[in-house]
Amino acid sequence: MPDSLTIKDNRTGQTYELPMLYGTYPHYGAAIPAAELRRIRASDDDFGLMSYDPAFMNTASCKSAITHIDGDRGILRYRGYTIEELAEKSGFLEVAYLLLHGELPTPAQLQEWQHQITHHTMIHEATKKFMDGFHHNAHPMGILVSTVAALSTFYPESRHITDAEVRWKQIHRLIAKVPTIAAFAYRHSIGMPYAYPDNDLSYTGNFLNMLFKMTELKHKPDPVLERALDVLFILHADHEQNCSANAMRSVGSSHADPYVCVAAATAALWGPLHGGANEQVLRMLWEIRSKDRVPEYIQRVKAGEFRLMGFGHRVYKNYDPRAKILKEMATQVLHVTGKSPVLDLAMELERIALEDEYFVSRRLYPNVDFYSGIIYQAMGFPVDMFPVLFAIPRTAGWLAQWQEMLEDEDQRIARPRQVYTGADERRYVAIEKRK
Ligand code: ACO
Repeated sequence: MPDSLTIKDNRTGQTYELPMLYGTYPHYGAAIPAAELRRIRASDDDFGLMSYDPAFMNTASCKSAITHIDGDRGILRYRGYTIEELAEKSGFLEVAYLLLHGELPTPAQLQEWQHQITHHTMIHEATKKFMDGFHHNAHPMGILVSTVAALSTFYPESRHITDAEVRWKQIHRLIAKVPTIAAFAYRHSIGMPYAYPDNDLSYTGNFLNMLFKMTELKHKPDPVLERALDVLFILHADHEQNCSANAMRSVGSSHADPYVCVAAATAALWGPLHGGANEQVLRMLWEIRSKDRVPEYIQRVKAGEFRLMGFGHRVYKNYDPRAKILKEMATQVLHVTGKSPVLDLAMELERIALEDEYFVSRRLYPNVDFYSGIIYQAMGFPVDMFPVLFAIPRTAGWLAQWQEMLEDEDQRIARPRQVYTGADERRYVAIEKRK
C-alpha cells in the first residue's frame, strides 16, 4: 500500500497498516478512515482505538464537492469557482443554483429556477398569524428559527425526504419563503404592517421591498443597495463544514424534515461565535466610540478581557477573502447612504490589530463579519437583523449540504463516540442512607 499509514501500538508491539483517502487532489486533504482505528486493540475484549477530537478540530465528517476553503492561502470557491469571480459576475440565485445543482445554470435553467423561487415567496396566512403572536420586541432571529420550524406543520409531505421530487419542492419553498419570514419578522419588531412579495422584483429587490415599503404603490429599491445585498448574499451562501452546516447535516441525518433542519441550523448560526458576530462587531465599535480609544481597547483584548469581534477564524489563518470584497463594497455603499464614522473606526482597529504581535503571531485577521455589519447598518438594518441577513443566503448552502448528505452512501445517523471519564460501576445507596 503506497499511500497508507503504519501505526505501531506500543502496548502490544503490533503494527497496523491504515489506508488513506484523498480529496480531488492530495493537497485538498488526506484522511484515514477513523473506523479503521478500531482494529487497534490492546486485548481481545478491548473496544478498539478511537480518535479524540473535541469540536472536530481535525476530523473530516464527510466527503463534499460543494465548497473548498484553503484557510492558509485565503481561498474560497463554490463548486470550483472563486468567490471573487462569482461576486463580480453572478447573481445570488444563480449561485444558489450552482451550489445545489453543481453547475452554473444555462439562461433557460436560470429563468426556470427564478420562476420557481419567485412563485413560492408567499407564506400561508396562518403563518402570518403565528408570527403575530410574538412579543413586539422579540429578536427577529428567534422569530425566524421558530417560524421556519413551524413551516414543517404546513408541509407534512416534506417528511418524505427520500423522494427527490419532494425534496426539490421544499428547497424551492425554503429559499423563497425565508426572506419573506425574515422581512415580516422585521416589520413585526417595528410595529409596521407586513409588505407582501412583489414578483416583478429580483430576489434581493423584493426583499428590500418587503422590508422598507411604506405607502408608495410600488417600491423601487436603490440599484446599488440591491446589488450590494446580492453580493453579500453570494459571499454568505456557503462555507463548508461550519457549526451551522454541521447542525444541518447532523439533524438531517436522523431524517427529520428540511424545515426543522434549517431551523436547527439557523439556531446554530445565531450564536455570537458564529453568525451572531456581525451584530457584536457593531456593538463593539459603538463601545469604542472614537479612534483614540482603539489602542486601549486592543490592550484589554490582549489582556484576555474579551475577544475582538469579527477577528479570527477556525479555518482562515489569512485574510478572509470575503472580508476583502466587503471592505471595498463598504466604501461603495457609503457613497450612496452617506459617510459612516464606524467604518473609519473599523479601519483604524484593523490597522492597529494587524500591526500587533498578539494578532500577527496568532494569525488573526478580519473575518466576513467585520465589515458586513457596517454595510448592513448603512443600508438601514437594525443590528438585530444582521444574523437574519446571514441566514437567508446560507439557507441555500445548508440545503446543498443536506442534499449531498442524503445522497451519500457513506452517511448514517450522526452519532459521535466519547471517552468516558465518569465513575466506574457503584453500589446504589438508598435515599435514607445517603449523607
Ligand atoms: N480576539 C482576540 N483573541 C482571539 C480572537 C479574537 N477575536 N480569536 C482567537 N483569539 C485567540 C485566542 O484567545 C487564542 O489565544 P491563546 O492561544 O493565547 O489562548 C488563539 O487566538 C486561538 O483561538 P481559538 O479560540 O483556539 O480559535 P478557534 O479556532 O477555536 O476560534 C473563533 C475561532 C471562534 C472564530 C474565534 O477566532 C473568535 O472567537 N472570534 C471572534 C468571534 C467572531 O468574529 N466570530 C465569527 C467567525 S466567522 C463566522 O462564523 C461567519
